[in-house]
Amino acid sequence: MAANSIKDDEEVSQVKKSITIKRLLGYLFRYKKTIAVVLLIMAYCVGISLANPLIIESAIDDYITPGNIKGMIVLVLIALALNVIKVLLVKIRMYLMSKMTNSIIQNIREEVFTHLQTLGFKFFDSRPTGKILSRVMGDVNSLKQVLQNFVITLLPDFITVVAVVIIMLIKNPKLALAGMVGLPLLIAGLLVIENMCRVRWQIHRKKSSNLNAFLHEDISGIRIVKTFAAEEEALETFDELTEEHKNSFINAVRVNDAFNSVIEVSTAISIVCMLYVAINVMHIDASNVGLLVAFTSYLSLFWQPIANLGSFYNQIIANLAAAERVFEIIDLEPEIKDGEQVGEMPQITGRVRFEDVGFAYEDGVPVLKDVSFDITPGETIALVGPTGAGKTTIVNLISRFYDVQTGNIMIDDSNVRDVSIESLRSQLGIMTQDNFLFTGTIRENIRYGKLDATDEEIEEACKKVGAHDFIMKLEKGYETELTERGGGLSAGQKQLLAFARTIISDPRILILDEATSSIDTKSELMVQKGIATILKGRTSFVIAHRLSTIRNADRIFVIENGGIAESGKHDELMAKKGLYYNLNMAQA
Ligand SMILES: Nc1ncnc2c1ncn2[C@@H]1O[C@H](COP(=O)(O)OP(=O)(O)OP(=O)(O)O)[C@@H](O)[C@H]1O
Ligand SMILES: [Mg+2]
Repeated sequence: MAANSIKDDEEVSQVKKSITIKRLLGYLFRYKKTIAVVLLIMAYCVGISLANPLIIESAIDDYITPGNIKGMIVLVLIALALNVIKVLLVKIRMYLMSKMTNSIIQNIREEVFTHLQTLGFKFFDSRPTGKILSRVMGDVNSLKQVLQNFVITLLPDFITVVAVVIIMLIKNPKLALAGMVGLPLLIAGLLVIENMCRVRWQIHRKKSSNLNAFLHEDISGIRIVKTFAAEEEALETFDELTEEHKNSFINAVRVNDAFNSVIEVSTAISIVCMLYVAINVMHIDASNVGLLVAFTSYLSLFWQPIANLGSFYNQIIANLAAAERVFEIIDLEPEIKDGEQVGEMPQITGRVRFEDVGFAYEDGVPVLKDVSFDITPGETIALVGPTGAGKTTIVNLISRFYDVQTGNIMIDDSNVRDVSIESLRSQLGIMTQDNFLFTGTIRENIRYGKLDATDEEIEEACKKVGAHDFIMKLEKGYETELTERGGGLSAGQKQLLAFARTIISDPRILILDEATSSIDTKSELMVQKGIATILKGRTSFVIAHRLSTIRNADRIFVIENGGIAESGKHDELMAKKGLYYNLNMAQA
């Protein structure tokens, strides 16, 4: 179901890749001290790795062959001490590294999260939640891998290779060159395989992300899945997706494994070549067999990092793509944001004006056309009209969840575009169709509406909307733990909690979208009372399909065809026998 509608991720271009690397390095450079210590340790470790073959060479040629056992023991002890220190330093390096990468990752994750909060509805409208989740969690984790691979493996490997080449060339150019004879073969092989791999890993990542998105949708929609007895279908889709996921992985790994073969063959050819040159060309004998042993060690020091690179390569490419996606989110400009010179919204009195407002979610599909109205402070406006008429859209524009394309929306004397979003929304009370509750206690959920609310204020708000009584009947009262779906509470009770959360900040403008639609008649009576109290003294917009809940509004706007088709009081509109009358009749 969902999987097909998910957009594919684009390919990461070479240019972007290098920009991404630069940005990642930027994060690293914030930890200059740690990096300096890590580099020093690394230099020591690489130095010891490089010295070891020399020590062995000297042990064989200077001590073992001539029979100087005492000197050899001293040499071994020194070598042992150096290497023990190295092992300890490596542990310290690991610790420093993981501390650093973890805090970098934490920073980046915070950055992504903070940025997500600023993005408009449009961003969330157009992406499955599962995909967003997999970016915040999965992709940021991959990013950690890039950092760790880079500092723990690649950097020391690179230094080692360069140093080994230099040492070998100085010690014996002929043997050195012979030992690197497989290099051209390796490079050619890597290029070919890399090309084949890249596409396959890309496909694999796409499949992973599809699977993620599907899983998320299935789990959040589990009630619907079960209601429609669609478990079988869900399972089938899941099987299909996991199968594709698995196959794409196998496909990629199969090619990836060729890397190792190429590396092994090149290494083998080089070592054979080196030995051939040593024995048949240079005629090495017992007196300098140590040199040969040393060179063999150097060659493995040379080829091992290259093999590492081979096995890391794809991981790195994949992880870079993940990093790229993370930065993509961080770089997204929110469509709705504060202008250059916004002021603070002064204390709202509650006048709301639409001046020839035109709006479309998608170009060419206008939802509102030249809508104008003027609402005096304290008025209650009911918005009615057929589904899809644009009622929710009107209130979304007041809260500035979207920007109008033409016209202006004025609150008191300020255009909503000219004040900071924060100062605007903090004075609005918005209750939408889904009364989302967060995991936490009832008290915490209500405090969400006003973060510095005292316990008394919370109870006060609950009393006002008529929620206090049922809360006190719960075993743990205000400390009752809720889940995101408000498990254990009835629809009406959840509604009352949402009311309390909305009005606790005493908003000057109140927006209730479909607020009473999901309640049975008995609870509705209770909720009605709550609504009546919370509407008092503030400008309110109430959207409801059930006309009984809007009779008491000061004015009713009937929305149709992108505008206000009728407006007036209930009795006036009924007398008019127009649209509103018909809507009412249809309901009765
Ligand atoms: N995020 C969106 N992206 C694109 N089009 C949208 C979006 N939201 C709503 N629309 C379209 O805009 C029109 C008005 O939608 P709106 O949600 O305002 O209707 P409504 O009057 O609130 O309907 P209902 O009574 O069903 O809630 C509809 O045709 C709808 O398809
Ligand atoms: Mg609506």
